[in-house]
Amino acid sequence: MRPSSLRAAVLALALASPAVASVIDLSLLPSTEQIISGVDELLHPHHDVLGVEHTYDTKTSSYRKVCTLKALGNEQDDADNLVKAVEECGNGGVLRLPDANYTIGKALQLELHDAYVDLHGWLSFTTDTEYWIKNRIPFEFQKQSLGFVIRGTDYVLDGNDKGGINGNGQVWYNLAKDAGNFYGRPMSLAIVDSKNVIVKNWSVVQPQFWASITINSENVLIKDFYVNATSFDPASKVDEKNWLQNTDGLDTYRSHNVTVENMVYQGGDDCIALKPNSTMINIRNVTCFGGTGIAFGSIAQYEGVLDIIEDVVMDDIQLYPSSQCPGYQGVYFKSWVGESSGTPPNGGGGGFGYCRNVTVKNVYMEDILHPIAVDTDLIYTLGEKGKQTDNGKFEWYDIHLSNFTGQAAWNRIAWMDCSKTRPCHDWTFDAIEIKPGKTDHPEISYVCNNFVLGGNDGLNLCHPSNSTLETDNGGTL
Ligand SMILES: *[C@@H]1O[C@H](CO)[C@@H](O)[C@H](O)[C@H]1NC(C)=O
Ligand SMILES: *[C@@H]1O[C@H](CO)[C@@H](O)[C@H](O)[C@H]1NC(C)=O
Ligand SMILES: *[C@@H]1O[C@H](CO)[C@@H](O)[C@H](O)[C@H]1NC(C)=O
Ligand SMILES: *[C@@H]1O[C@H](CO)[C@@H](O)[C@H](O)[C@H]1NC(C)=O
Ligand SMILES: *[C@@H]1O[C@H](CO)[C@@H](O)[C@H](O)[C@H]1NC(C)=O
Ligand SMILES: *[C@@H]1O[C@H](CO)[C@@H](O)[C@H](O)[C@H]1NC(C)=O
Ligand SMILES: *[C@@H]1O[C@H](CO)[C@@H](O)[C@H](O)[C@H]1NC(C)=O
Ligand SMILES: *[C@@H]1O[C@H](CO)[C@@H](O)[C@H](O)[C@H]1NC(C)=O
Ligand SMILES: *[C@@H]1O[C@H](CO)[C@@H](O)[C@H](O)[C@H]1NC(C)=O
Repeated sequence: MRPSSLRAAVLALALASPAVASVIDLSLLPSTEQIISGVDELLHPHHDVLGVEHTYDTKTSSYRKVCTLKALGNEQDDADNLVKAVEECGNGGVLRLPDANYTIGKALQLELHDAYVDLHGWLSFTTDTEYWIKNRIPFEFQKQSLGFVIRGTDYVLDGNDKGGINGNGQVWYNLAKDAGNFYGRPMSLAIVDSKNVIVKNWSVVQPQFWASITINSENVLIKDFYVNATSFDPASKVDEKNWLQNTDGLDTYRSHNVTVENMVYQGGDDCIALKPNSTMINIRNVTCFGGTGIAFGSIAQYEGVLDIIEDVVMDDIQLYPSSQCPGYQGVYFKSWVGESSGTPPNGGGGGFGYCRNVTVKNVYMEDILHPIAVDTDLIYTLGEKGKQTDNGKFEWYDIHLSNFTGQAAWNRIAWMDCSKTRPCHDWTFDAIEIKPGKTDHPEISYVCNNFVLGGNDGLNLCHPSNSTLETDNGGTL
């Protein structure tokens, strides 16, 4: 019964026949208003689950409005109550979520200002894929979709080292197996139009799609962050990568001054990816298990659009395969083909721009197929790969890699295919000491195509080669 019809029924009962009234003392009966508000309470029990008080908050050392939200339990949707809590305390207050499991069954767009989210358990997303596809929050880039958006200024998301988001992504892994960029798959956490944000001690497990993204935001610190996308379907022992594609860990888009410290990722796609207009990005102490590594890009997918990545420092990065997915790339620079073909997400190209002032240092890896890779012929539509080569309009330069140790899985160590129209230049290599895992084709260990070499760039081992040996880059990831 819908609330309005229930209310009508209660009203009808309260105004029952005079025959009943004649044998009962009317003054003892609750008034119509009391009955209606009692039923409202039953139907919308937010006074029971949402406590609002003004208390001294030790986390922020100030008196603040504190909203404590209890979970309804039994898989009942907590989304509306969370929205109410944000209305009450999202501006200048604290949202305390003490319970172990909150069910989120609605796409949410929350706004926080000067607010602290103190989460001790999981925001657990429901698995009704039809609902999520239909109610996707559109994100213009690659026609992607969001499921949980937070906007605002000066806010903290604290998962207290025990909680964060459970995307319950297995249904999506099954649904989107073999389909890259499956339409409507929502990202788990999107920090959008935000300034001065801290996300800390926060996990995203079983992300539905990309685990997290920062869009149109600045001054974002993500510290002590954990992402794990694992397929528990027994069938995923075969074709592992196809189950876990698009489970990126942390992406940035149109964002400035983003710092990531102490992150652990397991999954089947980019551990971190810097998408168009990622500037002043600092990454420190990241460990990635499985997938396509630390990515610059993909970029230049939109004809005529200027894309920029600049002022990036990455320090202390470790990469390994996982038990479910190989480590395809270590550090990966990827830009689209020079002429647009098809439409995003899987088609496109023809964009331009540059990536410059990048330092990546102190990197350790084990069994990575392509420890250092540059691909400037990106296109994901079936049958299009390889039709355009060397014509990309995106420029990779002023890029400095140092102190790379560990072991490659195969012969390849540095495989850098730049564009003939925009050759790579002003790169330096210092102390690149990765050992090959195989030595039967040493001629492909250091490949530089369309690369301006010379001076003290440390690239003496590099030479052109069009060999197609050992090219698996993880498919359409
Ligand atoms: C958490 O909530 C989700 C969604 O309602 C539910 O599927 C899951 O079983 C819950 N987990 C626990 C541990 O209670
Ligand atoms: C994360 O939690 C741990 C353990 O409680 C704590 O030591 C650490 O300082 C926290 N990280 C941040 C960024 O607050
Ligand atoms: C960058 O963001 C950090 C917070 O993560 C802030 O402390 C710092 O002042 C910002 N830097 C600039 C130049 O705005
Ligand atoms: C990711 O989760 C799987 C399954 O629970 C677990 O076996 C694996 O150790 C986790 N990975 C990391 C890096 O924590
Ligand atoms: C690096 O990150 C890991 C995982 O979060 C953490 O255990 C470790 O203490 C960090 N190391 C440093 C030097 O901060
Ligand atoms: C990136 O920034 C440049 C310079 O501000 C701007 O012209 C361009 O449109 C931006 N591109 C995107 C994808 O936002
Ligand atoms: C290069 O990037 C670093 C890190 O963001 C920054 O400190 C430095 O000023 C940049 N250099 C130039 C020449 O812009
Ligand atoms: C090189 O990086 C490793 C970590 O990957 C670190 O232990 C080592 O100290 C670094 N070497 C130098 C010379 O900085
Ligand atoms: C690859 O390079 C070799 C030697 O430079 C050349 O003979 C061959 O034609 C090239 N093959 C292709 C497909 O470009």
